[in-house]
Amino acid sequence: MGLKKRSILSLVGVTILAMGLMAGCTPKTDKASSKDDKIVNIYSARHYEVDKLLYKQFEDETGIKVNVVEGKAPELLERLKREGKDTQADLFATADIANIYQAIESDLTQGIESKIVDENIPKNLRGKNNEWVAFTTRARILAYDKEKVKKEDLSTYEDLTSDKWKNSILVRSSDSSYNQSLLASFIELNGEAKAKEWANGIVNNMARQPEGNDRDQVKAVAAGEGSIAIVNSYYVGRMLNSEDAEEVKAAEKVGVFFPEVTQVNVSGAVLGKYAKNKENAVKFIEFMTSEKAQKAMTNENYEYPANISVEPSELLKSWGEFKPQNIDITKMGEYNKKAVEIFNQVGWK
Ligand code: FE2
Repeated sequence: MGLKKRSILSLVGVTILAMGLMAGCTPKTDKASSKDDKIVNIYSARHYEVDKLLYKQFEDETGIKVNVVEGKAPELLERLKREGKDTQADLFATADIANIYQAIESDLTQGIESKIVDENIPKNLRGKNNEWVAFTTRARILAYDKEKVKKEDLSTYEDLTSDKWKNSILVRSSDSSYNQSLLASFIELNGEAKAKEWANGIVNNMARQPEGNDRDQVKAVAAGEGSIAIVNSYYVGRMLNSEDAEEVKAAEKVGVFFPEVTQVNVSGAVLGKYAKNKENAVKFIEFMTSEKAQKAMTNENYEYPANISVEPSELLKSWGEFKPQNIDITKMGEYNKKAVEIFNQVGWK
């Protein structure tokens, strides 16, 4: 399966411009294009192979050339702020509402007006004025050691702070927006004091000082360093289907558990306030929320489709259903600063 995927991806000939290469220069247009440029310029922090496949499909279907600047979300956000109205970016795609919210707060976005997008994506997965649209969702799940932990002993995020899990919890550092948004969701649901209590309780139960990314937490469970990792759901899917045998082995050792009320974060896009190819950018968002693209994202990258008429991949279905937090997702962006403050107060590295 891994090999097959690679051969598909090797056909993808999308222009990924290095960071900086596009700085100050105008992206090339197709020879055939007239003054109505058939291009769309994307700044993307979605670091997934499937996106490249989708860019190519979009180009083939629409004749609109996709130029992509890839980078980490904070870098791209900085760049968008710096470039202001001179930016070449038509849209910014990223993981995590924390990053999406920053773009909105910095007044770098405009509402996405599209009946197609409105039909594809439910209201709770879009900004109030369509300032953002989700492409996918992902759950922050517990990946537990199947040999050491009984599923029946797991319940809520709060339970992870109880004494029975001393030296058991593996989780990455607090500078990860994934953790910031998780804590922000608790601020919204339970208030600041409770959220702080939770963060403090996790610090007390950590198996080690935070290090590495989500995958590394799963690997640490497999290596016996701790017994429960807090990670984004798609990483387990990606590891199970990895070309790296070690990753597969590690992922096979863990079970996937959805806490009683599970935090759900999004990956998605905002339309740039200064988009010069606005129509094409909207077309791209329409494409990314279409059934076809959504199927690819769930089947190839194990994300949950934001378009609810598309079923999650077989693997995701095998993990069962879960109850998501009943929350205005944008609030997780609003409480980001507060969450960072709490992490610092409790010493979550
Ligand atoms: Fe990620």
